[in-house]
Amino acid sequence: MKELHNQLHQESINHPETFWAKAADALSWQTPFAKVLDASDAPMYRWFSGGELNTCYNAVDRHVEAGRGDQVAIQYVSPVTDTEYGITYNELLAQVSRLAGYMASQGVTKGDRVIIYMPMIPETAYAMLACARLGAIHSVVFGGFAANELATRINDAKPKMILSASCGIEPSGVVAYKPLLDDAIAQASHQVEQCLVLSRSQLHADLVAGRDVDWQRAMADAPNIDCQPVAATDPLYVLYTSGTTGQPKGVVRDNGGHAVALAWSMKNIYDINAGDVFWAASDVGWVVGHSYIVYGPLLVGATTLLFEGKPVGTPDPGIFWRTIANYNVKSFFTAPTAIRAIKRDDPDGDFLNDVDLSGLQTLFLAGERCDPDTLHWAEQRLNKPVIDHWWQTETGWPVAANMMGTAPVPVKAGSPALAVPGYDVQVVDEVGEQVPADQTGNVVIKLPLPPGTLATLWQNEARYKESYLSMYPGFYLTGDAGYMDEEGYLYIMSRIDDIINVAGHRLSTGRFEEVLCQHEAVAEAAVIGVDDKLKGQVPLGLVVLKKGCTLSDEQLYKELIAIVRDQIGPVASFRLVSAVPKLPKTRSGKILRGTMRKIADNQNYKMPATIEDPYTLELVRNALTRMGYADAHV
Ligand code: COA
Ligand code: AMP
Repeated sequence: MKELHNQLHQESINHPETFWAKAADALSWQTPFAKVLDASDAPMYRWFSGGELNTCYNAVDRHVEAGRGDQVAIQYVSPVTDTEYGITYNELLAQVSRLAGYMASQGVTKGDRVIIYMPMIPETAYAMLACARLGAIHSVVFGGFAANELATRINDAKPKMILSASCGIEPSGVVAYKPLLDDAIAQASHQVEQCLVLSRSQLHADLVAGRDVDWQRAMADAPNIDCQPVAATDPLYVLYTSGTTGQPKGVVRDNGGHAVALAWSMKNIYDINAGDVFWAASDVGWVVGHSYIVYGPLLVGATTLLFEGKPVGTPDPGIFWRTIANYNVKSFFTAPTAIRAIKRDDPDGDFLNDVDLSGLQTLFLAGERCDPDTLHWAEQRLNKPVIDHWWQTETGWPVAANMMGTAPVPVKAGSPALAVPGYDVQVVDEVGEQVPADQTGNVVIKLPLPPGTLATLWQNEARYKESYLSMYPGFYLTGDAGYMDEEGYLYIMSRIDDIINVAGHRLSTGRFEEVLCQHEAVAEAAVIGVDDKLKGQVPLGLVVLKKGCTLSDEQLYKELIAIVRDQIGPVASFRLVSAVPKLPKTRSGKILRGTMRKIADNQNYKMPATIEDPYTLELVRNALTRMGYADAHV
């Protein structure tokens, strides 16, 4: 099947317009597009310009019109609240058109931004689809972020309305969202006119008079509204992701290219068609949740499983397998860290005994590098293909994958397989020359990127060009380093920037450093991602203290851990910090984070020729050893 994969890939690169025009036939267009690929403003490429459609219509209404109204669209499974129910396409249409009707009655209209700060409940999907119905631009903020991060996003997106809920449910208990929302609004300079707040039965939300509206009450007498056609090139959503600075990047996704690419990927990569059941065990706050919990499965008329829980502890490491069996999930998608958590708690796979997984075809993994041990463990226990695939918030859908729907290729452990049609992936050296097979370099994608990838950064085209297009003109910089073997299999090994990946969550070390420096005792901070058996990486902070700090180490570290949790959120998983007398730097003042990371993880490293003071590396190594890292280094 490698020939077929390569043939499709070649077609997509040599004749992108024919390739994607054919894929666009899978959607319903209000107005046909005039151009498939509009390069008139290159390098700002646009797909399907002149075309009009509505993403919500394509994900909901048209399936009802085609007779799928009684099929379950969203299967909600929430072990943390002991709730399971299905929402049919008919019910989904009723919920979404009414919520959109309410929002429209409050003045939300095409192009307005709406922030969604909600847990993993069906109403979150209704909220996203209701925005799409109106042509409003949603921006979902992950619940594990702190108020300060939410405030940053409020200031950047300037939403007309915020949709939220009283709480999320974590294994540790009920997490109140409303106080975080109130705090964020208080911190933000942008004035939010209205918050629509859903009170869950686990926790009632106190509403602020004149600003907050109760969700159920609003829905009770809201009118239904039809889909508003939007330009294919109009934004559907903005999703913030970590950049190298503390200011997150607002990735803008358009309507047309997004719908075409996702529908194509559901069939060709995930082998999911109308009527099939698909489950992506992620969170709607991340890109995986946008693409493969909400939009992708619904665009093809499948059933999507929306899961509120964790791979372990809710209540045990068998919950994924039982859920797959109970709902006859055909393709299942999660992060390697979730499999590592299950493997840790159930090493022999005992929880798989007596579970009928005959309906499951494939396990897909993404979000972080998949180590071969995890891949083999899953393959052996499940006896199914386990498919690593690689992509990013920016691309919105897989860049390298095994196309299980059309052209599966043999699996090579450690590789997310081949570049997917649409992506001309290359590995280059510092000056942009392609490197030979098996040699590591920067992974780049030749422009134009295919449909469904980021159109720009919200209100910041200059940052888009600077971050992604300036290093190698004509190419998109992925920020990942890796290599390609003789057969074109890609291996993604690390980031080339200061982004770390904690349990599949992307975080900026620059942001951690900014927050640590807010502490009055800290003069300077460096944060690196160190290897972690469960989460892949965890952040580790090294701080240089101002003279005269009188706090005990214990008290200082407690305060630093608390400040990160308070400013970034629990998702940061920040627990490792130590003071050092001085940080290792180059003579030009650049902190040597890469070298410190190698020391922490016991990897070989070269003494950087430009180091200002080699002794600083000894100081760092001592601190790392005390923290349980760098112990075996020779
Ligand atoms: N709302 C509020 N808090 C949240 C949250 C949310 N939506 N999501 C996570 N948190 C909190 C957790 O409660 C935890 O808080 P704690 O420090 O009080 O325990 C903290 O953030 C870290 O959470 P998490 O990253 O989930 O770590 P964990 O140790 O609780 O669980 C795993 C470890 C591996 C089970 C978990 O990380 C996991 O399921 N990972 C899958 C990753 C994934 O799906 N990634 C998406 C990319 S595909
Ligand atoms: P995010 O934007 O949060 O989805 O994170 C994207 C980043 O996660 C990528 O740039 C990679 O660094 C990493 N990543 C995602 N999937 C994989 C994978 N399959 N293999 C290696 N790294 C991955």
